[in-house]
Amino acid sequence: MKLLDLYAKMKGDLNRIEQELERSVTDDHALLSEASTHLLKAGGKRLRPVFVLLSGKFGSYNLEVMKKIAVPLELIHMASLVHDDVIDDADTRRGQLTVKSKWDNRIAMYTGDYIHGKALSIVTELPNPAIHRILSGALVQMCIGEMEQIRDFFNTGQTVRNYLLRIRRKTAILIAISCQLGALASGVDAGTANRLYRYGYNVGMAFQIRDDMLDLYGTEKQIGKPPGSDIRQGNITLPVILALQEPGIRDSLLHEIRKIKDAEGEADTRRAIDMIRSSTGAGLAEELAGRYIQKALDAIAGLPAITAKKNLTDIAHFVGKRNY
Ligand code: IPE
Ligand code: IPE
Ligand code: MG
Ligand code: MG
Repeated sequence: MKLLDLYAKMKGDLNRIEQELERSVTDDHALLSEASTHLLKAGGKRLRPVFVLLSGKFGSYNLEVMKKIAVPLELIHMASLVHDDVIDDADTRRGQLTVKSKWDNRIAMYTGDYIHGKALSIVTELPNPAIHRILSGALVQMCIGEMEQIRDFFNTGQTVRNYLLRIRRKTAILIAISCQLGALASGVDAGTANRLYRYGYNVGMAFQIRDDMLDLYGTEKQIGKPPGSDIRQGNITLPVILALQEPGIRDSLLHEIRKIKDAEGEADTRRAIDMIRSSTGAGLAEELAGRYIQKALDAIAGLPAITAKKNLTDIAHFVGKRNY
């Protein structure tokens, strides 16, 4: 199933979110608006707002309230991407030039901060300190995750456990709280909010595992940027950790990764990717992503059988298999 088909029922509300997103970054300053709008218009899956809206359906759903959660969550995600592309020195995202590439790093840093600031100004319109606390806690975790990733660049000794802890922080928690905050803002009971959090967390883990797989196995058209970006910059992701555990591949892969570190040679990157692709890493990573998806489905199994639950189920299946 395509993501757009899954969104069909929510189209009206998502259009409103989209308008609000555009409006939120256009009032203050020409260049900040231009750079923010550039990324916004490049597209993206808008998964976090979708999780907010669907989770809100388990309580008393009010689009005006949902907007104040969904828009900030997409903005925070966007800000993290603008900054991530500086760290990764990435030229393309969503099939377009990155902010850092179209303008420069300094402009990208402030554009990210600006988008972040706008997110906070919208969410603080909701007089609910628990929501502010959960959101700021998640932001702290994201920073820690990204810092750990930098620290672990080219660390071929890292374990699957290190990797899982890192992606939990950098990706899964934001998706988890998208569900949790959507639910809380609709006044659901704590148990339901907690189940939705666990759904989001497990989908988020599978989401990043698939992202890291796509970077190695996907095409530029699928992922909107050149594949192999992770290994090129030393980001050792799950398929690589698993390939390094394979005795027949380990030594030669270590050798290539060392060469990438020293010289950043394109041929070395190519060879490393081919080795990883020939290993059992892909199959194992896919299996692990599948286990997270199953946990996500288990988390919401006891919730009432409303349409939103069916949509969450379909999205979980999409994420487990996603190729864009
Ligand atoms: C990209 O997220 C960064 C990760 C957390 C893997 P998305 O894949 O949700 O990015 P867009 O918003 O659809 O471009
Ligand atoms: C996601 O990680 C970035 C954040 C969570 C901020 P990636 O570095 O894998 O994202 P892409 O692949 O650049 O979209
Ligand atoms: Mg990146
Ligand atoms: Mg990635």
